[in-house]
Amino acid sequence: MNILITGADRGLGYGMTEELLRRGHTVFAGQYLNKWNELETLQQQYPERLHLISLDIGSQDSVDEAKRRIMQTTDRLDAIINNAGVNGRSPDDEPFKQNYETMLEVYNINAIGAIRVTEAFHDMLEKGSGKRLMFISSEAGSVTESGRTDFYSYCMSKAALNMYVKILFNRLRPDGYRFRLYHPGWIKSYMGGQLSDRGELTIAEAGERAVDYFFDQQVDEEQLVLRGYNGRILSF
Ligand SMILES: NC(=O)c1ccc[n+]([C@@H]2O[C@H](COP(=O)([O-])OP(=O)(O)OC[C@H]3O[C@@H](n4cnc5c(N)ncnc54)[C@H](OP(=O)(O)O)[C@@H]3O)[C@@H](O)[C@H]2O)c1
Repeated sequence: MNILITGADRGLGYGMTEELLRRGHTVFAGQYLNKWNELETLQQQYPERLHLISLDIGSQDSVDEAKRRIMQTTDRLDAIINNAGVNGRSPDDEPFKQNYETMLEVYNINAIGAIRVTEAFHDMLEKGSGKRLMFISSEAGSVTESGRTDFYSYCMSKAALNMYVKILFNRLRPDGYRFRLYHPGWIKSYMGGQLSDRGELTIAEAGERAVDYFFDQQVDEEQLVLRGYNGRILSF
């Protein structure tokens, strides 16, 4: 399959990229960071099937340019994994003093970023045979299950993402599209800016579980669920 994945430099995106390549897929890996060379190293191992594509999902120009680049190789995609995200947390977060600029930025990346990418590449998915749309959400986006008393912007952005996916599912499922809305677990990733030693899953473990669920497990395609890394279905 031809698969586009966003935020592939490090963290879960990198873990999924590695796993997809191991399973024989062709990956167009969205590269956001300049000074991070894990993808380049991986490319030496998979020079034919790993394509590095500069991509900032917060910018329409960047998404358009990424599409132009991918079109030089193929006009069809089988799957998109909307993975890139930011947590927007800053050390000086105060409960009643939200930084609205940061909130908008988090929303622009976590919610609108996935929309920007999905809309831009929809015609390439139409030409492909997979018609698969995957979205990395979070338990943090579940309104029903939330017990938090802070972390507004991240949780709100993921709740908004969930609603987008629900509406898109209603629209595209009749055309044969397959959807995955996924909470990947608490990962030892780079969300805090550096590799965390706290979390339940390593990047490789999280990548493998996600790819299993996205491509190898039988699911009822007529139901959109927010599915956790451990198989639990979360309310959203
Ligand atoms: N970590 C967890 O426990 C956890 C739990 C639930 C859900 N998730 C979700 O899992 C996904 C992956 O997160 P992760 O934990 O792997 O975090 P991560 O290690 O920070 O990886 C995310 C990647 O996306 C990149 N990125 C940031 N802004 C971007 C943009 N505008 N365009 C394209 N790429 C951008 C990041 O770059 P920078 O490093 O420069 O930001 C980073 O390379 C996110 O959607 C996150 O919300 C994570």
